[in-house]
Amino acid sequence: MLEEAAKLVVKSRFAIAFTGAGISAESGVPTFRGFNGLWKKHRPEELATPEAFEKDPHLVWSFYKWRMDLIRKARPNPAHYALAELERMGILKAVVMQNVDDLHREAGSRNVVELHGNIFRVRCTSCSYKENLKESGRLEAFLAERDLPKCPRCGSLLRPDVVWFGEPLPRKALEEAFKLAETADLVLVIGTSGVVYPAAYIPQIVKEHGGKVIEVNTERSGITPIADLFIRGRAGEVMERLMEKVRVMLNG
Ligand code: OAD
Ligand code: ZN
Repeated sequence: MLEEAAKLVVKSRFAIAFTGAGISAESGVPTFRGFNGLWKKHRPEELATPEAFEKDPHLVWSFYKWRMDLIRKARPNPAHYALAELERMGILKAVVMQNVDDLHREAGSRNVVELHGNIFRVRCTSCSYKENLKESGRLEAFLAERDLPKCPRCGSLLRPDVVWFGEPLPRKALEEAFKLAETADLVLVIGTSGVVYPAAYIPQIVKEHGGKVIEVNTERSGITPIADLFIRGRAGEVMERLMEKVRVMLNG
């Protein structure tokens, strides 16, 4: 299976990756579905909605601050590094990401399409104010603040700059992702349950345009029925072994 996957990767002229929460699981970032731990009482899907924010912004902000804190301490794992290496080799053209972390970029990926926003960005609920808290150096202070965060420009409530259920995806990112999917001759689908649309169309579009689908997941997913190769296993472990094969094939 890995041998076949490595052959497809090496043969590809335009590969893309489509990643979900599972790729960051080995970095210590909990996935959404099959969640356990601190947030047993609240299902993340129920907190990631505009209605939840309207009803109880304190609860939603404490969930997001908890995730921000977790994610800022996380480091990329071998799966993130593998994708960055494939990009440097010229094989992988882009990572289309459903996650809101920075782990792909930290690992060295350059062309990352953020379909669901970024957890380190906040935006105003009234005006056009946006801020990346990591870049502005305010993350630490932001996490320590107990009151609800307010817009420095107009005083309205700030919210995470991420996509919630029932909200449209950022138009430019979605268009870019669809265009990449139409062009790709291979998509590496890593660690996603493949049930959240429109993102989950990406592998389907690749397939419809004649491209191959390789999936890496610890479980079967919504994508598995259309996968040409399904590799069961943890993303970091599988990608590390896959890269060993790819390097051998490329270097003879
Ligand atoms: P999910 O939490 O739905 O799915 C995680 C997937 O990763 C599952 O299919 C697991 O089997 C798999 N998995 C877990 N650990 C893994 C590992 N170590 N290696 C490989 N696979 C592993 O996360 P997503 O599919 O990313 O949306 O969820 C999609 C969207 O739903 C998210 O982007 C988010 C969420 O609500 C928004 O926030 C809009
Ligand atoms: Zn404002």
